[in-house]
Amino acid sequence: MRAESSRHILTGASTRGSGASVMIGSWPQLEGPLVRLRPPVPGDEPALIEMATDALVRRYIGGPADLATATAKATRKTTAPDPGEFVIIDCASGEVAGSGSLARKRGPWEISYMLRRSFWGRGLATQTVLLIRDGFFTHTTEDLLIATTQRANEGSRRVLQRAGGVFAGAFDQYGMPQERYEFHRSAGT
Ligand SMILES: CC(C)(COP(=O)(O)OP(=O)(O)OC[C@H]1O[C@@H](n2cnc3c(N)ncnc32)[C@H](O)[C@@H]1OP(=O)(O)O)[C@@H](O)C(=O)NCCC(=O)NCCS
Repeated sequence: MRAESSRHILTGASTRGSGASVMIGSWPQLEGPLVRLRPPVPGDEPALIEMATDALVRRYIGGPADLATATAKATRKTTAPDPGEFVIIDCASGEVAGSGSLARKRGPWEISYMLRRSFWGRGLATQTVLLIRDGFFTHTTEDLLIATTQRANEGSRRVLQRAGGVFAGAFDQYGMPQERYEFHRSAGT
């Protein structure tokens, strides 16, 4: 994610109620039985670097970075995180299990996520999407949240479908078929 895009999270989404913030770091209750979400802080770098350099983790999201690039990005993320950036803490171990962001990448607010390989298959990503979805509709007045994924990324598609994302169309990006999923504010949210 580029810094310019996510900075808009501070100003681009209307807030609910006076004094409410759209900085996800200030949203309370971003915690479920499996994961807790918080902004990146110094000390998180090894997990961020591991993911950025792991060819399997990066398979559908641009490929692995070299160590120097990954280290520079991790340092930026932990020392000057964009408001929509977060890390995923595995409640069972307290370890950084993954990371993600909430940003306007292509217009609407969009959630992205990734997990370290050793944390796949336990429901952590699904719960992360549910927590961000609920926090987003609770703490902003926005009506639409989206996620996009390569069609070939079956695990990610299952995460979005399990979290209640509605398939909203296909498109091509970087020569690869992608799918868009949408989350809408439900009545009373
Ligand atoms: C995409 C990605 C986050 C999905 O990870 P994941 O571990 O499959 O997703 P979850 O953490 O939600 O776990 C769900 C899986 O755990 C299983 N599971 C076990 N316990 C569970 C629980 N308590 N609750 C929910 N699911 C559980 C589910 O059955 C599911 O497996 P299935 O998809 O084979 O049915 C992961 O593959 C990843 O990080 N990939 C690389 C980065 C990436 O592609 N990100 C997405 C970009 S669009």
